[in-house]
Amino acid sequence: MSGATLAFDVYGTLIDTHGIVELLETMVGGKADAFSREWRRTQLEYSFRRGLMRRYETFAVCTAQALDRTCAVYGTPLDDEQKRRLLSAYRKLPAFGEVKDALRDLKASGFRIFAFSNGTADAVEELLSSAGIGDCFLGVVSVDELRSFKPDPAVYLHFLQRTGAEAGACWLVSGNPFDVVGALFSGMRAAWVDRSGEAPFDSWGVEPDVVVRGLAGLGDRISVRAGDS
Ligand code: 2OP
Repeated sequence: MSGATLAFDVYGTLIDTHGIVELLETMVGGKADAFSREWRRTQLEYSFRRGLMRRYETFAVCTAQALDRTCAVYGTPLDDEQKRRLLSAYRKLPAFGEVKDALRDLKASGFRIFAFSNGTADAVEELLSSAGIGDCFLGVVSVDELRSFKPDPAVYLHFLQRTGAEAGACWLVSGNPFDVVGALFSGMRAAWVDRSGEAPFDSWGVEPDVVVRGLAGLGDRISVRAGDS
């Protein structure tokens, strides 16, 4: 099977946003795990709000402002140097363990593979390259080109236009339920990566076409509708 286009979400799907916990532990001790989750949750909330309010700033700004807010929530003031180190580490977060081999398999099977992210193209390229997977992609499509954020329907349509993909033969692969719902409502197909195997999905009347625990073997689970290629 070949020809289908895969739109890989980046943060939380290919890249482990909690890969920062070890460094956080040196700064906030036992609060590191909860701190990391709150930081990520706030980062996404800020992207949603900025998208709705048409007050676009890059995802890196959302990340930095969410860090400030998370410090306040946990009563753990960090100095400028500590924040600089955290934000610098965030630009080089690790990929999940199976990602590199799985992407190589998908590429060898003929899938057209793109990164599709809230991050700016520069930030995503740096991240993918530092994780050793930069060569697996035909390109990076960033929401920054529209100055909006997922799940604005416009960004999914933008992905289809930029890559020349047909919606029915284009799969979003994402660990983020809001992203999966956004793609499905835009006519794309979607694979939800539920690494825990027990995360709740949204009750919005649509379901992912496929649910996987990781990316290994993903190509065998993906099909295209008759007539699409
Ligand atoms: C990404 O767009 C949603 O953070 C996720 O990479």
